[in-house]
This record gives sequence, C-alpha cells and structure tokens, in this order.
Amino acid sequence: MAYRSVIVGCGSYLPERVVSNKELAASVDTTDEWIIERTGIRRRHIAAEGETTSDLAYAAARAALRNADISPEAVDLIVLATATPDHTFPATATQVQARLGMTQGAAFDVQAVCSGFIYALAVADNFLKAGQAKTALVIGAETFSRILDWQDRSTCVLFGDGAGAVVLQRQDGTAVVSAPGIISTHLHSDGRYKDYLYVDGGPSSTRSTGYLRMAGREVFRHAVTNLAGVVTEALAANNVSADQVDWVVPHQANQRILDATARKLNLDPARVISTVADHANTSAASVPLALATAVGDGRIKRGQLLVLEAMGGGFTWGASLVRW
Ligand code: ACO
Repeated sequence: MAYRSVIVGCGSYLPERVVSNKELAASVDTTDEWIIERTGIRRRHIAAEGETTSDLAYAAARAALRNADISPEAVDLIVLATATPDHTFPATATQVQARLGMTQGAAFDVQAVCSGFIYALAVADNFLKAGQAKTALVIGAETFSRILDWQDRSTCVLFGDGAGAVVLQRQDGTAVVSAPGIISTHLHSDGRYKDYLYVDGGPSSTRSTGYLRMAGREVFRHAVTNLAGVVTEALAANNVSADQVDWVVPHQANQRILDATARKLNLDPARVISTVADHANTSAASVPLALATAVGDGRIKRGQLLVLEAMGGGFTWGASLVRW
C-alpha cells in the first residue's frame, strides 16, 4: 500500500507581549530606522517570565488540532522542532504530549535551528509514508529571547518568540504534484559553517545555556545561495516551474533575504508570504507561523501549490513542495 501525507490543519500562537523597535532602542544602541531598513522588522513578540517553549507549542498544537477538527486521541506522532527546549531533557514534545492528555504514540524533538520545521515535516512525512504513524502533529516552537545577548545590538533586534503547528494525516496513494499533500522534501546540512551562527554554551561544552553569536554578513550570503538552490532542487525534482508556484512560505529571517532569494529565483515578490515585520525571526516557528497567518487571512487556498523553505545554524537548509 502506498501512502502520502496531507496537511489537514494548521495553527499558531504568539506571546501576548509585543516589543517595538522603539522600545528596544531605549535599552540598546539602535534605531527603528536602522532595523527597518536592514531587516524589515518592526516588532516582535516576547514570552512572559515563566512562559516556556512547551507553553507556546501546546497553544499552537491546540489551534492546529481545532483547525483540523481532530482530537488528540487520534494523534500517534508528535515531532517538535526547537533549539530552545524547556529542559536539556526530556524532549519538549513529550511535555506537549502530556498537556494534550495523550499517552499513546511517540513524541520527540528535532534540532535544526531555523530549518527545524522543514526537518520535522520531512521526518513526520517519512513516518507516515512508511506506514509507521497515521496522524502527526508537527510543531515549530521557540523562545529565542532566552538565548539572546540583550547587550548585542547586532543580534538582539533580529529575533522573537512564537510557535506554529500543522496536523498531517496519512492517506492512501502516492505523493504526486496534482493531489493534496507533501509532494517532496529536500534537506541539506554543512557543519563546516558552525562558527557563523551558534550558541556559545551547552551542557557538554560549558554546562551553561549560552548566547546566540552570529556573523551576519556571512549568514546572509549563504542564506540566499542555499535557499535559491534548494527551492530550485524541489521544483526540478517534480518537473514544476517557478511560475506554477502559488505561494512561497519562507523562513522569516530578514526581508532583504526574502527579496534577494525571490530575485534569484525569478519569483514575483507578491507571491512570497512575509510576516517578518510583525514576528521577526522566530527560528523553527517562523514557517508554520507564516503558513497559519496566510491560511487564516485567506491568501492560501485549498488546491494551491506551495514551497516552504528555510535555512539556519549548522548550516542546515531545506525546502518542501506542498499541494495545499
Ligand atoms: N543598530 C544600529 N547599528 C547596528 C545594529 C543595530 N541593531 N547592528 C549592527 N549595527 C552596525 C554595525 O555595528 C556596523 O557598524 P560599523 O560599520 O560602524 O562597524 C554597521 O551597523 C553595519 O553592520 P553589518 O553587520 O555590516 O550590517 P549588515 O548590513 O550586514 O546588516 C544584518 C546586519 C541585519 C545582521 C544582516 O547581516 C543580516 O540580516 N544577516 C542575516 C542574519 C540573519 O538573518 N540571521 C538569522 C539567523 S539565520 C537565518 O535565519 C537565515
């Protein structure tokens, strides 16, 4: 029996507190104008004291299950992408599982930083296609505010907190371009570039959590090349041309990265979903957050062809072609 995975619902959650560029400029040497011009970011949501990644993930998971009209008892797989887990262990996914009242199935985390959601989607898709699970929750959730050096203006202005989730259901039939579902996923990593984007802590190296460190220009350059490359790969693998794509749902790092990647791919920027102004970079949460936003406001409609793409620390990068 051949199987494919269909996204039957999506949802998201953003912490209540919104921090504007102006508010940031009161505590670090920056300006609203600089941040908007270089990144397109205007504001970001920041988790409340004591509000954890699993809290955000749980809220997004509930929203996605509601949207799909599926009860937690039907779910037999949770794959949660995060680089900011509640604890070193257990996996944050297991805490979401418990909060949902589930004792069945398997729940685990995937770590590919900003590409985490694409990686998690690929993992869940492969479980479903192999017949090892029937209904999966795929979540991207982050509290990057906890690993930012709030004195470092070159990084602290770029990130925000949030979570997004989708529900995947196994259906009969193979993945094809014309039918709803995940058509293909394409993943890459290259560990030589660790020092361009990393956290300078961890249980095995420093016994501390550490702070995010980044060489912004290098990341920018690699992001545009790698993202354009992996989107081209996803289209070519399915004999699809760029003008057949209805929407690109990219990782929301920086408006300039979105624009430069669209230019390189010869894609109309009007077909690129952008939420970076309101959410900033929420790492693994950014793709499902952007997806839920554009589904919610009616831009993404059933039957349309989407490309999801992301790049993050490692470096890791990936893309997925999806018929909505
Ligand atoms: N406010 C004011 N000035 C600043 C700020 C700030 N927040 N941050 C840096 N500057 C200054 C620098 O100190 C520097 O000053 P100098 O010329 O006196 O030394 C000047 O601005 C230019 O700095 P650059 O780093 O060269 O600026 P650039 O144009 O490259 O923009 C940025 C920086 C926005 C970080 C850009 O490189 C970028 O977006 N890179 C991609 C990084 C990214 O998105 N990472 C996210 C994780 S990876 C991913 O998700 C894909």
